[in-house]
Amino acid sequence: MSSSPEFLVFGATGQQGCVVARALREAGREVRAFVRDPQSERARALAAEGITLAVGDLFDRASIDRAMTGIRGIFSVQASSPSGLVTDEQEVAQGKAIADSAVAAGVAHLVYSSGGAAGKGHTGMGHFDSKSRIEDHIRGLPIAATITRPASFMEMMMLPGMGLNTGVFTFFMQRRQSMQMIALDDLGRINAQILLQPGRYAGQTLELSGQDITGEYLEEAFSRAAGHPIRYQRFSDELLAGNDFLRQLSALVDKGIVAGVADIPALEREFGPMLKLDQWLSGPGKVLFEEALNAPQAGISLR
Ligand SMILES: NC(=O)c1ccc[n+]([C@@H]2O[C@H](COP(=O)([O-])OP(=O)(O)OC[C@H]3O[C@@H](n4cnc5c(N)ncnc54)[C@H](OP(=O)(O)O)[C@@H]3O)[C@@H](O)[C@H]2O)c1
Repeated sequence: MSSSPEFLVFGATGQQGCVVARALREAGREVRAFVRDPQSERARALAAEGITLAVGDLFDRASIDRAMTGIRGIFSVQASSPSGLVTDEQEVAQGKAIADSAVAAGVAHLVYSSGGAAGKGHTGMGHFDSKSRIEDHIRGLPIAATITRPASFMEMMMLPGMGLNTGVFTFFMQRRQSMQMIALDDLGRINAQILLQPGRYAGQTLELSGQDITGEYLEEAFSRAAGHPIRYQRFSDELLAGNDFLRQLSALVDKGIVAGVADIPALEREFGPMLKLDQWLSGPGKVLFEEALNAPQAGISLR
C-alpha cells in the first residue's frame, strides 16, 4: 500500500466503485481500492491509474480493518443477491462490517451507496430490504455519514436479453410510465463530490437520478441512436408469470417504489447537469449500446 491514500473505495472493480475511484483520482486525490484479486484485469487497470490496492475480502473483517489505516473517507457498496455472490443476510453483514470497521478506525466520513427502493417500507424483495437495514445501522453509529440511493443504472438496459438486438426492447416500465435512471458516470462524480465535501453532505440521504424515462421515450431514443426502428414493450405477462424476480420488480415499479423519487432539478442545481439517455447513448454508453445491438440472442440476466 502507498503511504497516504485519503479515500477507501469498496467494490472498486465493480460498476459503482470503479467510477467513484476514478472520479476521486481525477480530482487529484490518493485513493485505495479494496479488491479481492489484485491480479484481475480490473484491479490492474485501477493500479495503472495510480490507485493503490488493498487486498481483502468482505467476508474477512480483519482485512477490512487493515484497509482502513489512515483513511478519511469511505465509499461503501456491496454486491446483492441477484449477482449470486452473496445472500441478502451476507449483504447486510458486509454493509454493517464496513461501517463498524470505519467507526473503530476513527474514519471521518462514510458514504454508503444504497438503492432507490430503500427507506420506502418493506418491499418483500430481499436485496432492497437489505439496504434499508444497512442504512438504519449506519444512522445509529457515531460517524458522519451520507447515504446515496441511486436509481437504476442506464447501463443495466444494455444487459443481455433485453432485446436491443431483435428490434424490440423490453423493460420494466409501461409505455407511458416513467422510471428514473442514472448513468454510472454521474453516480461516480456525485459520490466523489460528496466525499470531497463531507461537511456539506454529512447527515444527508440523497436520491440520485439523471432522468425520468418512459417506455415511449426509450423507443424514440434507442431508434434515433441505432438509426433503425426499435419498438418498446413492457415485459410480457407470459414472461412475468414465469419469472418471480421480474414480476416482483415490475410490481414495485407500478407501485412507484422503484420508479424513483429523486428531485432531478434540485440535483442539477447542486451537482451540475446530469447525463440524459440521448447523451449517454452517443457518449459513455456508445460502445455498450453498439455491443447490445449486435449481441447474440440471450436470456434476460439482471443484477
Ligand atoms: N444495477 C442497478 O441498476 C442498481 C441500482 C441501484 C443499486 N444497485 C446495487 O448496487 C450494488 C452493486 O453495485 P455494483 O453494480 O457497482 O457492483 P458490481 O458491478 O456487481 O460489482 C460488485 C463488486 O463487489 C466486489 N465484491 C463482491 N464480493 C466481494 C467480497 N466478498 N469481498 C470484496 N469485494 C467483493 C466485486 O469484486 P470482484 O471484482 O472481486 O468480484 C466488485 O468490485 C448492489 O447492491 C445492487 O443492488 C444496483
